[in-house]
Amino acid sequence: MRAKHVSISPAIDGQEIFALLREDLAAIEREFGRDTVSHVEAITEIGEYLRRGGGKRIRPMLLLLSSRLFDYQGRGAIKLGAVVEIIHTATLVHDDIIDEAQIRRGRPAANTQWGNSKCVLAGDWLYMQAFKIAVEERNFRILDTLIDLTQQMVEGELLQMEKLGQLISLDQYFDLICRKTACLFSVCMRVGAILGGATPEQEQNLAQYGRNLGMAFQIVDDVLDLTASEDVLGKPVASDLREGKVTMAVIHALERCAPEEREKIGAVIRDRAFNGVSHGDILAILKHHRSIDAAHQRAMQYATLARNAICNFPNVEAKRVLLWAPDFVVDRVK
Ligand code: IPE
Ligand code: IPE
Ligand code: MG
Ligand code: MG
Repeated sequence: MRAKHVSISPAIDGQEIFALLREDLAAIEREFGRDTVSHVEAITEIGEYLRRGGGKRIRPMLLLLSSRLFDYQGRGAIKLGAVVEIIHTATLVHDDIIDEAQIRRGRPAANTQWGNSKCVLAGDWLYMQAFKIAVEERNFRILDTLIDLTQQMVEGELLQMEKLGQLISLDQYFDLICRKTACLFSVCMRVGAILGGATPEQEQNLAQYGRNLGMAFQIVDDVLDLTASEDVLGKPVASDLREGKVTMAVIHALERCAPEEREKIGAVIRDRAFNGVSHGDILAILKHHRSIDAAHQRAMQYATLARNAICNFPNVEAKRVLLWAPDFVVDRVK
């Protein structure tokens, strides 16, 4: 199913988008399934477990939509859609080991089932498999982009690790989330653009869209970690504080709060535990300084920047979805 030229109407719903992308997303699932089979059973098992765990598949969707702006018809978007989802999966496996996460996507994280050692190796295997499939496209620009991305993401995780337990600045926070999340969103849009034969300017605009959307996405992920319930989110809440990770709303409050409030937040971050200060206490401080609202507003600003970056593209259906996606990201509950 390919992009039709229709007039832009502001309203679009999930069902419409699902219908628009259904065939290609199903093809990406099949590709992912084929790509994660190995002679070594543990890898196939872990790969299968991860793929079946679901997930929003937002990254392959972005790649598909970006390529459809150019009415791209080839198989490359399916292959590379699977590639970006496999890279995302590999980063999640490693992230859950690093964060010692117990739950992911509403069920036990892979590390709790197979142990850290096997999961590190499965993650490595997935990265290499993603590159093996990407190489088949014989496109050096795409390979360059994906290699650069992977290094940025690993650097992001490492930098974040070095800052654990510290009260980082807003600039440091934005740099971190750019590397660990926004970069991949940007690459999804860029790869779609390269496949579609975009001009350098178009490619740049789409990469900007992805970057800004990714920034909004991670700010919201960090807000949800503070405000959501585990049932809805499918992963434990307040885990960032427990990991000593300072995120946007907390930084906003720290810049404004009284010394005793600062001491409470500082104690949780330092101890990486709620000893004598509860999650509710921290939320009350954030509420008092309207810090959750501030983070949401910042996410909305990034969402607007994303929309603006694609204003010059022709009015095809894919654009309508891309104009809607920033609202979805900001308003999502999981
Ligand atoms: C989780 O990404 C990791 C972050 C960048 C916050 P998603 O929220 O897209 O995870 P799934 O794939 O839908 O589970
Ligand atoms: C996502 O950050 C990092 C990755 C790029 C994997 P988080 O650590 O916030 O992701 P979740 O909340 O565990 O999904
Ligand atoms: Mg994590
Ligand atoms: Mg998170």
